[in-house]
Amino acid sequence: MKRLENKVLVVTGAQGGMGKETVKRFLEEGAFVVAADLNVDGVVETEALLPVAADLTKEEEVSNVFSSAMRKFERIDGLVNLAGIAQAATPIEGVSLADWEKIIRVNATAPFLTCRAAVPPMKQQGGGVIINVASISMVRPRPGLNAYIASKGAVVSFSQALAIELAEYGIRVNVVNPGPADTSMLGKFSSKEADIESTKETVFKKSVPMGRLIDPLDIANSLVYLCSKEASIVTGAVLNVDGGRGI
Ligand SMILES: NC(=O)c1ccc[n+]([C@@H]2O[C@H](COP(=O)([O-])OP(=O)(O)OC[C@H]3O[C@@H](n4cnc5c(N)ncnc54)[C@H](O)[C@@H]3O)[C@@H](O)[C@H]2O)c1
Repeated sequence: MKRLENKVLVVTGAQGGMGKETVKRFLEEGAFVVAADLNVDGVVETEALLPVAADLTKEEEVSNVFSSAMRKFERIDGLVNLAGIAQAATPIEGVSLADWEKIIRVNATAPFLTCRAAVPPMKQQGGGVIINVASISMVRPRPGLNAYIASKGAVVSFSQALAIELAEYGIRVNVVNPGPADTSMLGKFSSKEADIESTKETVFKKSVPMGRLIDPLDIANSLVYLCSKEASIVTGAVLNVDGGRGI
């Protein structure tokens, strides 16, 4: 028996570094996957995979993701929120209101919209699982990532608020905090003047006690576990998948 056999799981940010690996792992474990991202060009619909293009900061586009999912698969067992944007390290006095609002909108408001859309079918089915992906930087901040870290802190508090609210409905809500991960997002945290490749080596890799960057597969595997029956009593948890960066 595969670990996610016949589960219908919605993955946001499905075209990103962690998203692609997560969709692959979920399909390998027998899930049906709804893969949502700004752009899903080139992703082919199959019996088990439904790509949906959506800007998840927009209510009507979020609504379309969930209605398309229900049309094709007739239920929703899980939601994994991976969509997000980085912030180039910027001293607070240089952060514009527009930048602040954009980061909060994508990283915190979009998860609110997707969770709000996922809960009604889950309540009706008598259970489900939500995993919001925040960041270890909300536990151990780095200078200049002020808006990004605030957005991820909001995601953690919001997830724990939902975990207590939804426990009686059999809906589990958890958080994964990735450490610095080897995706295209990582370079985007560097300050505008910094050399991206050397920052990856000298700042990010060096900051992980276990001595390597986090692989998207490390994150995908943690998401398989949290979506599976093996985690059936785990809710309100914040799982650091970070090689010890948060210690
Ligand atoms: N890479 C890291 O070092 C790292 C560390 C900690 C946390 N994280 C978090 O992990 C998650 C995944 O990161 P990743 O490294 O795979 O990043 P990524 O940039 O590779 O992927 C993010 C995806 O989100 C999508 N996206 C952005 N805005 C969107 C919107 N409005 N609507 C729909 N989709 C949107 C992008 O198109 C992209 O495909 C993010 O939430 C990120 O903040 C990443």
